[in-house]
Amino acid sequence: MNTKKPTCITEYAGDLHGKKVIVRAELNAPISDGMVDDDFRIKKFLPTLQYLEKQGAITIVLAHMGRELDETLEPVAEYLADHVHAMMFYQNFFHAWDTEEWEVNVRTLTDDLSVAQPGDIFLLDNTRQTKAEKANNLELGKQMAELGELYIHEAFPNAHREHMSMDALPKNFPVDLRFSGITFHMEHETLQKALEPAAPSVFILGGAKFETKLPLIQSFLPLYDLVIVGGALANNLFQLAGHNVGESLVEDLTDDQKDSLRNVLEHPKFFLPEIVTCETVSGETVEKHISEVSDTDKIYDISPSSFNDIRNKIVEAKSILWNGPLGYYEGGYDAGTKALANLVGDSDAFSIAGGGDTIDAIYDIHQESNFSFLSSAGGAMIDFLSDGDVHGVNVLTQ
Ligand code: 3PG
Repeated sequence: MNTKKPTCITEYAGDLHGKKVIVRAELNAPISDGMVDDDFRIKKFLPTLQYLEKQGAITIVLAHMGRELDETLEPVAEYLADHVHAMMFYQNFFHAWDTEEWEVNVRTLTDDLSVAQPGDIFLLDNTRQTKAEKANNLELGKQMAELGELYIHEAFPNAHREHMSMDALPKNFPVDLRFSGITFHMEHETLQKALEPAAPSVFILGGAKFETKLPLIQSFLPLYDLVIVGGALANNLFQLAGHNVGESLVEDLTDDQKDSLRNVLEHPKFFLPEIVTCETVSGETVEKHISEVSDTDKIYDISPSSFNDIRNKIVEAKSILWNGPLGYYEGGYDAGTKALANLVGDSDAFSIAGGGDTIDAIYDIHQESNFSFLSSAGGAMIDFLSDGDVHGVNVLTQ
């Protein structure tokens, strides 16, 4: 566990006026019909962006969009332009890396930066438009670092990735010129609190991917008073407990993983919701006890009635941490997730939730203001909670 804390940009002792600042932002928002569909993450970038603008910094923003080479930040650029005074967007900037056009791109940007006014913002298109981003290309990192005088990491949800814009690039700056952004700082501080929860505490884990989540279940059982597991993870657990899960999605597990899970199942603090929502072979949606699932059923959700027995434990908890939906959320099976979101929202606990679908469910039932902290991170949150550390924090502190 890394106990060092990154320094937030607001604690920078120098003058940002006229200073060229490179910010790695998290702007990977859902897009539909060429427009930003959900601005949750982009809004989390505004405090840092507007702070830099107000301080008179000249801000160069790098961020990724999606996972494909042809995705663009153009819709995000349009959104941001409405929230700042002067912003230039450099479309397809990174596409040109390793081609003859690259020098032209860099020269154009450098010339623009040389006449920039305090408060100006320069947004470069999707860093993943070149494979050099994920490959953590040192030369590209060096060239990008030459554009600025200090570096800010404001992409906590992506901080578990060792990519050029979050590793090779910042490492060109001395450590005392690498900062966290305002939201990164808050994410880090809040998740640190989740590692020392006030009792009684509840940890809820949904979604899939046993490989990353099993270690978390194991390390959080001693830490939290009640650990609830739902989502695809639960299907494996039902199976190991000897239940028929029919045609439900289960992951292939190693023998070691199965042994660990058997121990989890027997743990007194562990709770596996047992009333499930299934799709039958005729396409009907029915609720049944896990012991009644047939060979052709597909378990798609946890029934809200599963929580009847633990309702009080949730509502009376002092701290609650939650990552991941309890059902096949993207397929419309959201009743279990929303029922739990209502219970957590109704509690007075210090409540933290993270992961795209979990946050979506909370907003959908208008419970967002009843949660203490909504994290913009999913995978990075899991990584941080598992290790007490995440790559981006190390880059800023070591
Ligand atoms: C996200 O969008 O959830 C994060 O930025 C992580 O994205 P990635 O898994 O594509 O790196």
